[in-house]
Amino acid sequence: MKLVIAEGALLEEIIEATFPIWNEGLSRAAYAQWNAAQMRTEWGSEHLHRFALVDERGRWVASAKRYRHPIRLDGADGTMCGFGAVFTRPEERGHGYAGAIIEQIIERARGEGAAVAGLFSEIGGTFYKRLGFQTVPLDEVTVHVERKGGSPAMLVRSGEERDLPALAAMHETRSAGVRFTLRRGTPLIHYALSKKRLLAGLGPRGLRHTEFFVAEEGISAVAYVVLTVSAGGWTLEEAGDRDPAGARLGAILQVLLAREPSHSTPLIRAWWPTALPAPPQIRLVDRVPARDIFMLRPIANVPVPTRPEDVFYWRSDYF
Ligand SMILES: CC(C)(COP(=O)(O)OP(=O)(O)OC[C@H]1O[C@@H](n2cnc3c(N)ncnc32)[C@H](O)[C@@H]1OP(=O)(O)O)[C@@H](O)C(=O)NCCC(=O)NCCS
Repeated sequence: MKLVIAEGALLEEIIEATFPIWNEGLSRAAYAQWNAAQMRTEWGSEHLHRFALVDERGRWVASAKRYRHPIRLDGADGTMCGFGAVFTRPEERGHGYAGAIIEQIIERARGEGAAVAGLFSEIGGTFYKRLGFQTVPLDEVTVHVERKGGSPAMLVRSGEERDLPALAAMHETRSAGVRFTLRRGTPLIHYALSKKRLLAGLGPRGLRHTEFFVAEEGISAVAYVVLTVSAGGWTLEEAGDRDPAGARLGAILQVLLAREPSHSTPLIRAWWPTALPAPPQIRLVDRVPARDIFMLRPIANVPVPTRPEDVFYWRSDYF
């Protein structure tokens, strides 16, 4: 069995085979475009590859996306080998090929100095536990925003590319001291935003859209939110505030809700990091474990975090 980078006709076949599972409501053509576009972004072109396991006859049997996420674990900068879209051809299932492609990619990552492997399981924890992954609890909460009559007097504008370094700085400050986080530099934040915007833009009109707003002081962003808006409500993908109390972040949400005073308040769900205090205008309720199970497996000799408060991870960085 040989591990190869999936390109050309091979990649086409994998796109065709995985479309029924991971189409996110996109057409077949749009699904191919969405995948290709992610790999053409600045961050994606360096950090995202699709691999295939090919048998002796030259036929692919399994495939997976492999990310190289920059992380900080227990104060040390390192890399996570992230897995996405782990897939075995239906007629080849049950022969251990999914396990085999994961092991081969991990061996390669070990050679490149990766500290951990990580993934979000859509099929429960058992399969990946057998492969040495451990569940890292992430909480999902409902964000309840106190609505006052009218809008707080604060300037909120659309976020722009020039705001991204300020977002990166907020993340670094707010996540300091937490055992595990992604190092969210400007290219990664740009990738996360682009991925969502591409999905919204390529999808059926009205299905979902992405909103990015900042509050500014002087000329720099001091608080922000990124939301995915769909019929089911808002997903707070990521957020930040330069001030630890988070009052401006809370006010941004109040301003956004005040845009449509006659509408009932949408359901707002988030993976709100435990280390981030809730702003005064916000209550976090209905705390449940996130539906997608985050799992880590050590590659180097490192302990992986086991408590929600050990992890600072936004829904934005789901992969
Ligand atoms: C999951 C998947 C990658 C496993 O591939 P595989 O090459 O057959 O895997 P292996 O031979 O190494 O292991 C087979 C095991 O997969 C597990 N498995 C397969 N599908 C599963 C599912 N939907 N839920 C839970 N476990 C599942 C079973 O435990 C099975 O063990 P069994 O043979 O004892 O029943 C394959 O079934 C697949 O491509 N599924 C569709 C895509 C998918 O859901 N990927 C996972 C995304 S997180």
